[in-house]
Amino acid sequence: MNARLRFVFLGLIALSAAIATAAVMMLATGGPGPRPAAAGDVGGAFALTDQDGRRVTEADFRGRYLLLFFGFTNCPDVCPLTLQRIADALNAHPALKERLTPVLVTVDPERDTPAKLKEYVGFFGPEFRALTGTPEEIAAVLKAYKVYAKRTELPGSALGYTMDHSSLIFLYGPDGAFVTAFDPTLDATALGNEMERIVR
Ligand code: NI
Repeated sequence: MNARLRFVFLGLIALSAAIATAAVMMLATGGPGPRPAAAGDVGGAFALTDQDGRRVTEADFRGRYLLLFFGFTNCPDVCPLTLQRIADALNAHPALKERLTPVLVTVDPERDTPAKLKEYVGFFGPEFRALTGTPEEIAAVLKAYKVYAKRTELPGSALGYTMDHSSLIFLYGPDGAFVTAFDPTLDATALGNEMERIVR
């Protein structure tokens, strides 16, 4: 390889390294997709109906930590697995149940009536609560909490449709302030330890 060729060759290597670094950084920052929630960024007032048919607002949850998860009762996998991890984490740290309320907010208000939600969250533990509302009320909450949810038709399936949705777990303090968002794929041990560390 002569000097000039070697120069071009080294230049190409440097260029590929720069491209690879840029690609890794894009991946690390999440690229152009949904970005993780930032503190103070997510949440706000809501008026919804709980699993007992009572009208509630965010103010009714003050005084305790609020663990919010968005999902729906017909979800085949992510929602029940996530709710089970939350239940396992709370059962491993039962004192948390005195200071924190886990709440499922449905992204499927058409099918998730209070009665259906009550039966569903009952599977995960008596401390769980659930919220639904009119399609307009739920749409407003999804917007305020920056939750993505989209109906996808399932032709030929008895379910009729499913809901694609983002599934972060949001934690709010007793004063209603946003504390953090947990990765829903955290295992129950990690989630329990994190909640134990934060919830005082
Ligand atoms: Ni789900």
